[in-house]
Amino acid sequence: MNLFLEQSYRPKTHIHYFSATGNSRLAAQVVGDGLKLAGCDVLLQDIRKFDLKTAAKCLSEADFLGFVFPIYAFRAAIPMETHIRSLPRASVRKPVFMVATFAGYLDRAFMRLRDFLLEKNYVPVLTTSMICQDAWTVVRIENFIYDNGWPKKEQLLALREFAKIEIPKAWRENRENPKDVVGWVPFNPLSMVAALFPTALHKGVQFPIMVKKALCVRCGICVRQCPVNRLRLDPFPKAKGDCVGCYGCINSCPHDAINTWFTNGRLRYRGPVAKLEDLKDPEDPVDAGDLENPANTRL
Ligand SMILES: Cc1cc2nc3c(=O)[nH]c(=O)nc-3n(C[C@H](O)[C@H](O)[C@H](O)COP(=O)(O)O)c2cc1C
Ligand code: SF4
Ligand code: SF4
Repeated sequence: MNLFLEQSYRPKTHIHYFSATGNSRLAAQVVGDGLKLAGCDVLLQDIRKFDLKTAAKCLSEADFLGFVFPIYAFRAAIPMETHIRSLPRASVRKPVFMVATFAGYLDRAFMRLRDFLLEKNYVPVLTTSMICQDAWTVVRIENFIYDNGWPKKEQLLALREFAKIEIPKAWRENRENPKDVVGWVPFNPLSMVAALFPTALHKGVQFPIMVKKALCVRCGICVRQCPVNRLRLDPFPKAKGDCVGCYGCINSCPHDAINTWFTNGRLRYRGPVAKLEDLKDPEDPVDAGDLENPANTRL
């Protein structure tokens, strides 16, 4: 079932993702699933485990690259920006797609990444986004946690269709008529502030971490969760160095023991309720087939 290109060729697609609370990981898995259904050879890469030395060759062999990431403070998550900026320059023009997960305001994140990508000869030919439940406990009032399985199954199915149909189409079009198709994104009035003070806003979500020793069992979950290795158990979690404001530590603590002064006393986001398995349709012969788990990475 090769919907992608010639029957004999399986384009190699690498999907690089960053996810603090699981929404973008799920999105990356769904896109990977859709691409496999389209006959593509897929490799999922968590950028936290990305080793440039061993990955560079493998990366050069990829026909298509995808980046999946959350939006923080109107921008792509800092680890994804940093990752893209550290990638080696592609020797030949490499097409790229981007998928963002977000709660309400996406705006210029793609355009900012587009500029970083173009500098490296990676050309964004397609973007999409998926609305997810907000992982930002700062702005949360208790009832704002929907707890009803965002992203919805329909959204996940639409994302899988996007991967099955739109990505192959963009790939074909790019081969025939190479061009940069990611254009200007209109500003949302609410994000004008972000446009004026992008760095300040991003810094604004990086509050000092406070640990309630009476609640903390020193399990180290928050430490392992931090994408920039900022936390140490000493003997309780201590923060040192730059924070990227992902709220991974805060949302992952099973005892609500780690906080900023804003999140203190608020509910936590525990990750998407929906799962990749929920998308399988037993009536569909392709779905029922023995698909490789796209969460397996080979790098
Ligand atoms: C610190 C922080 C800031 C956020 N800022 C935005 C934002 O500006 N716009 C938006 O739509 N969503 C925002 N969100 C929501 C996340 O984009 C959304 O929950 C995303 O799906 C989380 O992805 P993840 O689970 O892969 O980490 C923010 C979340 C966090 C933790
Ligand atoms: S996850 Fe929570 S309980 Fe575990 S070490 Fe971190 S703060 Fe303590
Ligand atoms: S300290 Fe917490 S919020 Fe800051 S980068 Fe690490 S996990 Fe994310």
